[in-house]
Amino acid sequence: MDRKKITPVDIQTMKKEGKKITMLTAYDYPMALLEDRAGIEIILVGDSLGMTVLGYENTIPVTMDEMIHHTKAVTRGAKYALILGDMPFMSYNTSERDAILNAGRFMKEAGADAVKLEGGASVKDIVKALVKAGIPVMGHIGLTPQTISMLGGFKVQGKDAQAAQRIIDDALFLENAGAFAVLLEAVPAPIAKRITERLTVPTIGIGAGVHCDGQVLVVHDLLGLFDRFTPRFAKRYINLSEMILTALETYREEVLAEKFPTDQHSFHIDEKELEKVK
Ligand code: KIV
Repeated sequence: MDRKKITPVDIQTMKKEGKKITMLTAYDYPMALLEDRAGIEIILVGDSLGMTVLGYENTIPVTMDEMIHHTKAVTRGAKYALILGDMPFMSYNTSERDAILNAGRFMKEAGADAVKLEGGASVKDIVKALVKAGIPVMGHIGLTPQTISMLGGFKVQGKDAQAAQRIIDDALFLENAGAFAVLLEAVPAPIAKRITERLTVPTIGIGAGVHCDGQVLVVHDLLGLFDRFTPRFAKRYINLSEMILTALETYREEVLAEKFPTDQHSFHIDEKELEKVK
């Protein structure tokens, strides 16, 4: 297959051509290699890594240095997918200057192609400043995990007309500010459909129904690698935790029973040479 590196413009062309966009999170080199091989168009180094691989309670403690470390591993693994660095809490909301410097780190130090940040109208000037500085931005509205306490917990957003209208307006603000795409999380499907029809830039949904231009999942949810909390909208395609646990237990049993290592996994020395060894 003839493949080339995917750019934000390619993602926008996919919407124009009616082609669905696939996006997944990845936090390390082996997963990035596999997702790239599977043809996933966008790889998000999500701040969800705070929970899925660093063991934090939520995404709030995640630092820029942690994000850069993981993004570097992902960019080493994926040659074709567009790599999106997720701006962690307080890396962009403090000032336009902070936002540009931190987003710049994702691109200069880690090799990301674009960044994602949470918020609508409240971050429109920050998005504008980033785009003006030459940094492609994906917006993220609806359920925004970094401000979860203000939203009253992990629940669907835009359930009444006023809240739904605010999400639609936020999407339009982001498009007008120059975002190349907008991620919609936990938004009622008919509202996401309306946003997708109104925007010229693509929408990427997670818990936002089938009408979005693309879909994203946290890869640990898809693979069954994280079961502390699984949102209703996440589909588990395989239960890797169970398979890994079986393998680990079997290894331990075989070591205890001296079934591993076998001859096949051991090295030998010529008998005559062995005799010379005291
Ligand atoms: O950090 C993340 O993984 C995300 C997902 C909700 C897409 O933002």
